[in-house]
Amino acid sequence: MCNLIQKYNIPGPRYTSYPTVPFWDIHSFSGKKWEATVKKSFSESNAKEGISLYIHLPFCESMCTFCGCHKRITKRHDVEIPYIRTLLKEWSLYLELFDERPIIKELHLGGGTPTFFSPENLQMLINGLFRRADRAEDYEFSFEGHPNNTTKEHLQALYDVGFRRVSYGVQDYNETVQKAIHRVQSFENVKNVTDWAREIGYTSISHDIIFGLPHQTLEHVLETIEKTQSLMPDRLAFYSYAHVPWLKGNGQRGYKDSDLPSAEEKRAQYESGKMELAKAGYTEIGMDHFALETDGLYQSMQNGKLHRNFMGYTASKTQLMVGLGASSISDSWYGFAQNVKSLEEYQHLVEHNIIPIFRGHILTDEDIVIRKHILNLMCQLETLWFGEPMQFKALPVVLERLREMKDDGLLEMTPYQLRITQKGRPFVRNICMAFDLKLHEKTPETRLFSMTI
Ligand SMILES: C[S@@+](CC[C@H](N)C(=O)[O-])C[C@H]1O[C@@H](n2cnc3c(N)ncnc32)[C@H](O)[C@@H]1O
Ligand code: SF4
Repeated sequence: MCNLIQKYNIPGPRYTSYPTVPFWDIHSFSGKKWEATVKKSFSESNAKEGISLYIHLPFCESMCTFCGCHKRITKRHDVEIPYIRTLLKEWSLYLELFDERPIIKELHLGGGTPTFFSPENLQMLINGLFRRADRAEDYEFSFEGHPNNTTKEHLQALYDVGFRRVSYGVQDYNETVQKAIHRVQSFENVKNVTDWAREIGYTSISHDIIFGLPHQTLEHVLETIEKTQSLMPDRLAFYSYAHVPWLKGNGQRGYKDSDLPSAEEKRAQYESGKMELAKAGYTEIGMDHFALETDGLYQSMQNGKLHRNFMGYTASKTQLMVGLGASSISDSWYGFAQNVKSLEEYQHLVEHNIIPIFRGHILTDEDIVIRKHILNLMCQLETLWFGEPMQFKALPVVLERLREMKDDGLLEMTPYQLRITQKGRPFVRNICMAFDLKLHEKTPETRLFSMTI
């Protein structure tokens, strides 16, 4: 395994979209084209499956130095109301594109820190969104909570407006690691917020833990997993630390590259962590995610409904996902668009009735076919190209690229199908990269992606 890690540990995308953001064709993209794809997707899918909403709430009170998310650090809570007003106004700009009342299937509050906002303000936001929208029968509402500032009141207020899923950022319980990432957070806090959510009636509680953090050892990871097991969250994200210090404003500093575990140490953390999670009854879902058999994510994997988008893995697919808020990305299936990142610019554009996107990509027919293959691999660990729609011109080149990985036992292939083996699971990103025509057309000159392992 060590040799394989050395061989395949290269920078690579996490494929929450295809084409990945750095390969979007921003020159032929326009706001008008984006709106046309939204209209088309909405009329094709709203009545059938509903739509998804992702809402980015970017504020955090304190900067965790490992964090790659888009955030604004502030202790001033007077930013809450103006931001919510802007979100609701942005929503009204999308409502103008729709020819009927939207049916919301999935709603996710991400960040930053959604629980930076007061419970009353979060309720105001949700009620505002549903003034001109309905819920799907089997709707799923979820939010990201910071264990240090999620209160019983937050949990109750969001439960009252329909939330049943919450994910908490845990990362690692070791003090040295917590100090290095500037995020001191006790087990007691995590236990409290987990217990409260259960008492209130949340049906899916998730914890995010990370391996590969500065000063983190195998023992730290195993201790974190042991503590996590004692709380038995329904789901777990077991992320590989993405080291992307070159990305502007993400604040990954305060430690040196030499403070990070080596690729072999990191892989040992992943492999041992995975074994412990399996012993505790968790099944690996796609990439990075684990769930108990009672959780919806496990069930959706079993019945082939697992989907992946900019929110990560989701239990069902909607064709249209509208992202509201600074830096949010929307996905109309036929196109992607990203909102401006600066809060001031975001507010300015929305105030002037402009959907605040600054870049995007309209998918070609070939992009859509490749996107389906990559989704299949990320969600089902297999894909088929038998039959017309899943064929594409460059398929023979892709198959040639896969040959070495096949020889290394990472995948099995028939003339019309590819299946990732157990041995190949850690290399899913590498296997998807073989399908990524854009990446091979133009190898980036600068570092864009974190390492695959
Ligand atoms: C927006 S944060 C979670 C909510 C809340 N702000 C908190 O910190 O608890 C989303 C998650 O992204 C993950 N994350 C952020 N930066 C990461 C990085 N560089 N590598 C891997 N995972 C990262 C963390 O596990 C984090 O819990
Ligand atoms: S991990 Fe969460 S709280 Fe920390 S900076 Fe990132 S978004 Fe904010």
